[in-house]
Amino acid sequence: MNPHQAPPRHAIAHPANEQTTAVTSTDGTPDFDAVRNDFPRAKTAAYFDNASSHPFSVHSAAALHRYIDWVTHEVGEPWWPPWAASRDESKHLFAKLINARPEDIAFARSAVEAESNLINGMQEHLSGGNIVTHDLHYAASLYNYKIRQQASALPCSEGAEMCTVPGNVLNTKHDFESLRIVKHRDWQIDYRDMERAIDKNTKLVSITLVSNVNGYLSDVKAISDLAHAHGAYLYVDIIQGVGAVPVDVQAMGIDFAACSTFKWLMGVKGFGFLYVRSDLQGTVVKPTQHCGGLSFNYAPWVEKPDPAGAEFAFTPTPGPTCYEVSYPSYEGAICAQESLRYILRLGVHNIRNHVRTLTDRLMDELPAIGYPAITPKGNESPIVTFAAPDPATTMAKLRNAGVHVAMRYGNKMRISPSVFNNQEDVSRLLEALA
Ligand SMILES: Cc1ncc(COP(=O)(O)O)c(C=O)c1O
Repeated sequence: MNPHQAPPRHAIAHPANEQTTAVTSTDGTPDFDAVRNDFPRAKTAAYFDNASSHPFSVHSAAALHRYIDWVTHEVGEPWWPPWAASRDESKHLFAKLINARPEDIAFARSAVEAESNLINGMQEHLSGGNIVTHDLHYAASLYNYKIRQQASALPCSEGAEMCTVPGNVLNTKHDFESLRIVKHRDWQIDYRDMERAIDKNTKLVSITLVSNVNGYLSDVKAISDLAHAHGAYLYVDIIQGVGAVPVDVQAMGIDFAACSTFKWLMGVKGFGFLYVRSDLQGTVVKPTQHCGGLSFNYAPWVEKPDPAGAEFAFTPTPGPTCYEVSYPSYEGAICAQESLRYILRLGVHNIRNHVRTLTDRLMDELPAIGYPAITPKGNESPIVTFAAPDPATTMAKLRNAGVHVAMRYGNKMRISPSVFNNQEDVSRLLEALA
């Protein structure tokens, strides 16, 4: 079955097969009421936890169902190519979204895993240098750097032990010399602190575009200029921004970036993208999880072996696929194809403008009713966070009112509206807490 055709008659019944609302656009501005209809989750709750997991649109759900129907009823040779084309289109669309080229993009399974693989591949470059990051970078990424630093500092036998910590992909003790974690001041990163931390021995600066804690949006271009002026490279975890805030890897001077798709790309967990500037592929960032083909130049594999040839011929996978191992998730790619099309159709600037009207109101009104913001004023991201005076009571009130937010780090109430939220959702939240 062609993935772009209607599902077959024996398709599993599901709501996403119903006629769905198209995104309409009048004078370039999307109709966000129509967008709301594309997200059934908007009908069941005031869902403000998109920074944890974004719901699917009916379009992505339908695409996934088409694939599931096909695997259930029709899987077989003639039809792999259309699905492979969908898989590849997701890469092209992602490249377009971040102003990269498809040759800069590899499929990844997770932002954290991609960053970890990247560090593994940069061992030579990092050797003897320092890495600079900050405490609004994602906790699991900081863990990854910290545990490597600890392993490096230990005597060899113990260092080797650290390497076997479950879930840690560290496979060599030879790592960077020091790690500098810049601390935030009043929930933002002071450029001057980064300036003090970065020096001529800095090999990598690693940050998040948007903090998952309070939505703090990094001034990526300024940090990139700083890193590059010292000969360091810049990695940016873009998972909490891409799809919701503009990302232009060229204009922002980003060398490496990664994300998976289950947040602002409205897709699935366990599938995402790694961006590696193509001139750094294979040189600064070596592939560490080898993937390629091996052919045999001896009987019975070949009738007439070439006496001049080696018994085994290695064919590495080309370009950025050198960072991929085996098949990516087709479910992830097919869902991403649909959601990336959708996001590009809406336009990230329009998404930002829409969400800003909601976050601005929350920033204005929640402090006045006893919830001080820990997100800087004028911050341009879809995440706003407030200190809740009594987290348990706050969550109970919100649950009773059918409002979903995240309560993290004790009392930090994170609210992350998206394209389908509207002012009525915000009113429902404010009334529940008033
Ligand atoms: C900033 C940030 N980075 C990374 C992750 C984890 O993403 P992944 O599952 O793709 O590793 C999260 C998830 O909450 C996040 O907020």
